[in-house]
Formats: sequence, C-alpha cells, structure tokens
Amino acid sequence: MALVTSTELFKKAYAGKYAIGAFNVNNMEIIQGIFEAAIEEKSPLIIQVSAGARKYARHEYLMHLVQASIEMAKASGKDIPVVLHLDHGDSFELCKSCIDGGFTSVMIDASQHSFEENIRITKEVVDYAHSKGVTVEAELGKLAGVEDDVKVKAEDATYTDPKQAKEFVERTGCDSLAVAIGTSHGAYKFKGEPKLDFKRLAEIEALLPGFPLVLHGASSVPQDLTDICNQYGGKIPGSRGVPEEMIAQASKTGVCKINVDTDLRLAMTGQIRKVFFENPSEFDPRKYLGPGRDAVREVVKRKMRIMGCSGKA
Ligand code: G3H
Ligand code: 13P
Ligand code: ZN
Repeated sequence: MALVTSTELFKKAYAGKYAIGAFNVNNMEIIQGIFEAAIEEKSPLIIQVSAGARKYARHEYLMHLVQASIEMAKASGKDIPVVLHLDHGDSFELCKSCIDGGFTSVMIDASQHSFEENIRITKEVVDYAHSKGVTVEAELGKLAGVEDDVKVKAEDATYTDPKQAKEFVERTGCDSLAVAIGTSHGAYKFKGEPKLDFKRLAEIEALLPGFPLVLHGASSVPQDLTDICNQYGGKIPGSRGVPEEMIAQASKTGVCKINVDTDLRLAMTGQIRKVFFENPSEFDPRKYLGPGRDAVREVVKRKMRIMGCSGKA
C-alpha cells in the first residue's frame, strides 16, 4: 500500500471506536522505531512532521525515509496504510509546499487568529489540498504549551466552542478538526489533577456526528519514562501528562487521531542518557541511537494498544 490520505482510515476509526496514533518524527531512528511498532501491532499509522522537524531533517530525507519504510514493509508482506502529515502548518505556503512535495495530509493551524481569519486561511488550504487529493486537519480553540517557537500560556488557552466548531467545519470543508479540551503540548501539562473536558467533547461530537476529531498534546508523560531520564541525567521538570485511561476513553469517542511527540522524546532520551551514564566514553552513534530507536518502538506499541488501533491495519 502506498501512502494514503486520512479519509478511509478515519471512517474506520470512527465506526470502530478507536483512534489512530499520530507520531512526530525528526530522524531515521524515530521513523524506524515507529514503523517497527506499527508492523508488529498491525496498526494503521500517521507519521507527522512539524515545520521544525522538516527544517531540521529536510523534506526530501523525510519523504524518502518514509517511502523506504513502506517499501520494506511491503516487501516483507506486512503492508500497513500510512498517512504522511504536516503537523501545525502555520501558513498556506508551508501547506502547499508539503502537498506539492508528496504529503498526503496537512494541518493548517490558524487557531491563533480570529474565528473569521482562521476560517479564511483554512478554507484557502482546503481548496488547494482538495484539488490535489490531500486531506486537511484544522484547529479551533487554543492549546496551552510550546510548539516550535509558539508558546501559549495556560491562561491564554481557550477551549473549543461546540457551536463554533460546527460552523467552522461547515464553512471550511476541513476533513478533521483538532479540539482544545484541556490537553497541552510538552511535558508539563497539568499543575494539579489532570482533567479533560469530556462533556465538551461529547457536545462537539453530537453537533458533528461522524466527523473525525483530533486530540493534540496527548502524551501521558508516564512515570517510568521520566524516571529513566531523571535517573541518568538532569531532572525533567515534569508535572503530569494525560493519564493513559483518559487516552483510552477519548479513543472511543469521535476522536480518530491522537498526537504524541513528547513521550517519544522522553523514551529515546532516557535510553541515550543511560548509555552515556553507564559508559561516558562511548562514541559509536549506533550504540546510543540503537537503544533510543528500540525505546521509541516500545512506547509506540504501548500507545497503539491504549488507543485501540493495534490489529486494525
Ligand atoms: O506540537 C508540536 C510537536 O510536539 C512538534 O514539536 O515543533 O518542536 O518539532 P516541534
Ligand atoms: P505532546 O507534546 O503531548 O506529545 O503533543 C504532541 C502534539 O500534539 C503534536 O502536534
Ligand atoms: Zn500539536
């Protein structure tokens, strides 16, 4: 199977009451670890690239690494559907460049603009993307946290308004919508008890039946991953992530895509730190990137089981 758009995958996920994991990539080892997990779990896969990751690794490398992984899976008879998605595109130009360069899905995140301006920018991207057979995720509401250079303070975060969500989807024609219900980007999500607004999520779902919703900022920052990082290096000043039970709960709703980046970073960094802690004179990149890759594979498998997309390819 070649790269696919999100359309069919989301239809199945919605009907089957599970979510598909969308994992951020920056380099070869992360891509390999994620693919190994998806193949082992027989799970559909969304590989996503932020503007920062694209700048770091470069478009052509990422395209070819993903294509190589698909070809290798196919050759071994373990075909899985894969979406290659731009995460948090902040302009029409960036989205167009990814569409023209072979991505099968893009996110236009104009959520920092006014409602009307968000609609205008999103619609422009939707019109172009659809003319090329590419699907579009948009965002309404503002998540707290850090992504690339954009920092949103907790007090500036705004939850998605259900009625506005319906109007937004109708007027833009977007294919999926990222909603703000209390998650945030990064390792420091909740000051106190983790809390997601499931009531609001149900209201959005009721007004948009059958329409795929997306949850960003969904890393769980699990204790076992932060413990390894902390044991072998500087403390990750973590608070709490989204508990795994809440990810499982959200996966059974209209949420069809759940984004994870931070937990992959924690998993990989923990193992690399461990190698250097135990052998500070190590200088063969394979000796530390290899364990990092294995850790990415294991955490992705765990996510796929929690989201329910294991066995759904
Ligand atoms: O939501 C953002 C992702 O975690 C990507 O982070 O922009 O640092 O690559 P990045
Ligand atoms: P986390 O920081 O919780 O992993 O969220 C990642 C994300 O939403 C990428 O778009
Ligand atoms: Zn995000």
